[in-house]
Amino acid sequence: MNDRRDAHSELRGGYEAAAEFYDLFAKNDDIPFYLDYARRQGSPILDLAAGAGRVSFALAREGFEVVALERSEDMLRVARQRHNDLTEVIAKQVTIIEGDFTDFTLNQQFSLIIIPASFGHALTRDEQLSTLSCVRCHLRDNGLFILDLFPGGVQPERAFFEDVPVELPDGRIVRRVGEMRVDPARQILELKLHFIISDPQIEPKKEECFELLSGAALIHNREANMLMRMSDLEIVEEFGDFDRRPFSSDCGRRILVLRKSS
Ligand SMILES: C[S@@+](CC[C@H](N)C(=O)[O-])C[C@H]1O[C@@H](n2cnc3c(N)ncnc32)[C@H](O)[C@@H]1O
Repeated sequence: MNDRRDAHSELRGGYEAAAEFYDLFAKNDDIPFYLDYARRQGSPILDLAAGAGRVSFALAREGFEVVALERSEDMLRVARQRHNDLTEVIAKQVTIIEGDFTDFTLNQQFSLIIIPASFGHALTRDEQLSTLSCVRCHLRDNGLFILDLFPGGVQPERAFFEDVPVELPDGRIVRRVGEMRVDPARQILELKLHFIISDPQIEPKKEECFELLSGAALIHNREANMLMRMSDLEIVEEFGDFDRRPFSSDCGRRILVLRKSS
């Protein structure tokens, strides 16, 4: 039942309305980590679920050649706008492709494949396995795949948060408030984000609000290890966050560095 492609349909997509504002609240603490592996592995790099290009453009600015694959039309539109604003030399390093990471064929193999904060969007076991199979096919023999997971069993049952508001170049203020809720039966982390935009220069005050509802699969450790084994991928390194702390029960993330099994 869990493996129907239309399962959890209410938690899919959702990035449309907020695409323009999504990156504003990113901590970007993962970028130095990805850059480090990019330096070790070299180009080309495949950035799956590249969103508005946050990680792809950071890699391209450091001289790496990146293919950015993304499914959401609005994220792609924002990524292309930002791509146009890059210098010609940097822009040439990035190829933006519309695609689904659970089922893609590119005529190329990569030294490094990453899927920042997004593997959880493969909500069913079939989608997870087909993603890993596509990754393996596109990995060079000495290539690495970095998978950051939201592990099951370590997330708080329910949490509310509000980020520090951000001012846009045109003076508008964007606030983001969110709610995370674990659904243990479905092994899914539901994330509801509200983006509230106001313009302090306009009276009377008016607010525009977008809601984004998405879900990420919570993958327990042994289950993740089994998925990797079924996909002929071998764990080379494992961390509990992008600062490389060892993975333990207090870590909200599990980061795996993988290669093709020998
Ligand atoms: C949490 S955002 C992360 C974006 C980007 N990786 C980053 O870290 O800034 C998740 C992204 O995954 C994309 N996505 C979800 N499912 C996808 C799929 N099956 N194929 C391609 N992109 C997908 C969403 O559209 C969204 O842009």
